[in-house]
Amino acid sequence: MQTKTYNTAPYDDQKPGTSGLRKKVKVFQQPGYLENFVQSVFNSLADFQGKTLVLGGDGRYFNRQAIQIIIKMAAANGFGELIIGRGGLLSTPAASNLIRKYHAFGGIILSASHNPGGPDEDFGIKYNVGNGGPAPEKFTDALYQNSKIITSYLIAQFDDIDLDNDAELEIDGLKIRVIDPVDDYAELMAEIFDFKLIKQSIAAGLLSLRFDAMHAITGPYAKRILENELGAAPGSVFNAVPLEDFGGGHPDPNMVHAHELTEIMFGDNPPVLGAASDGDGDRNMIMGANIFVTPSDSLAIMAANARLIPAYAKGIKGVARSMPTSQAVDRVAAALGLPCYETPTGWKFFGNLLDADKITLCGEESFGSGSNHVREKDGLWAVLFWLNLLARKRQPVEDIVHEHWQTYGRDIYCRHDYEAVDLAIANEIIDHLREQLDSLPGKNWGAYTVKFADEFSYTDPVDNSVSSHQGIRIGFTDGSRIVFRMSGTGTIGATLRIYLEKFEKNIRNHDQDAQLALAELIDIAEQLSRIKKLSGRTEPSVIT
Ligand code: G1P
Ligand code: ZN
Repeated sequence: MQTKTYNTAPYDDQKPGTSGLRKKVKVFQQPGYLENFVQSVFNSLADFQGKTLVLGGDGRYFNRQAIQIIIKMAAANGFGELIIGRGGLLSTPAASNLIRKYHAFGGIILSASHNPGGPDEDFGIKYNVGNGGPAPEKFTDALYQNSKIITSYLIAQFDDIDLDNDAELEIDGLKIRVIDPVDDYAELMAEIFDFKLIKQSIAAGLLSLRFDAMHAITGPYAKRILENELGAAPGSVFNAVPLEDFGGGHPDPNMVHAHELTEIMFGDNPPVLGAASDGDGDRNMIMGANIFVTPSDSLAIMAANARLIPAYAKGIKGVARSMPTSQAVDRVAAALGLPCYETPTGWKFFGNLLDADKITLCGEESFGSGSNHVREKDGLWAVLFWLNLLARKRQPVEDIVHEHWQTYGRDIYCRHDYEAVDLAIANEIIDHLREQLDSLPGKNWGAYTVKFADEFSYTDPVDNSVSSHQGIRIGFTDGSRIVFRMSGTGTIGATLRIYLEKFEKNIRNHDQDAQLALAELIDIAEQLSRIKKLSGRTEPSVIT
């Protein structure tokens, strides 16, 4: 194969964040920017010659150009086979499945997840390892080091590949397979869930749904699975055509951005289930008629009912949640006598626990949940989990949630995000919080007394690797918590996140509005952090 070496100079900003490298499209379009990063990925890998790489993305602006470049770079660097989703498309969970199913060496996924797309918006790229999951920190650290000393990259000299038709090609010993992005994933879902039961329930009129694909990658997946295979009424899946700019929207499945769905679910004659997924298909939002299920509650409810799902009928091994996720799932684990792990934010921290079979289900408050079926969070999987659950229980979502709270108590929860805060101010806020930690235990605000205050550090129980500076935690004697973190996925300034949570055992207090129930904690959070005061904001940019 004819390859060419191009000289380059390093960029100093290629440090991957919570989930790969995310920057404005314009940043990625700088000469050699994408190439430097991809070559640095390959320079951080060993023994991949002749092996398989999975390639696909969420279809956002620049996906098609980037994929052609990566194909040629992977070829020049010595991969033996490339498996590419048709159109250059693969949802993140589908890519994870392909890596596992075809025993690929790894995969490159092009996505900035739920961030907006388009020429002036965001692009992203992440590398997943052979277990199908995001590369661990030791890899991303090495990659960043390599990106700072890179001097050249390699590109094979051949024409762009036709990605719009399924094909099996060979170019000088390199195999390229362009495959249907949905087939293998749909097959996996049918192995996990009781498709027959869901189908019967839909046909009998017991189950109805609306799914908002937000003009992102899950459109084709949801159409095929929910409408074609399970028989949901045509149009149940809406905003189903993936667009390079997501129709100008922000493909983040929460009640702010999936407002169309929210209106349906709180409007007249809502369906039994409402759901949405994000740009790359790994997030999910679950709603019922007149109810929003917080992701933390959704995870807890899944854990409590896992035995109703064929793949988990024999029971689950354990559960894990990211640190800022509410403690609702902990209560289920305690009741079932299961281990429960608290990990730093980001799906990569679940990989070892899943690989070692210590957990079966895991999730994050940021609209992510998943299981051992792949090594990424999985939006449609969560929707199918709920459909299967609803088909088994034949109850409205609202009743399932309320019964869950009756059994375990309710962890009233919400997150406040302050986006695009000046980085220096954000650092000052976090530093100031850090300085107060030692003096906080024992301090009172009304009924709240601080039990502990620390900066979360995690020791992976499988490989003993330590990840520190993972967020400021303030725990109160009644189990309430306030957590502060700086986002690792934003592309402008800093995003500060405040996570608030309060436990309510008393059924009579379960029907409260979360913002009102958390008002006192919200106030304490401001007193501690002075976010509003220092950033000049009067309210959070987004509340979820
Ligand atoms: C955010 C979420 C985190 C999730 C990540 C990727 O990261 O908070 O839970 O894993 O996106 O979807 P953050 O911006 O907070 O670093
Ligand atoms: Zn995503």
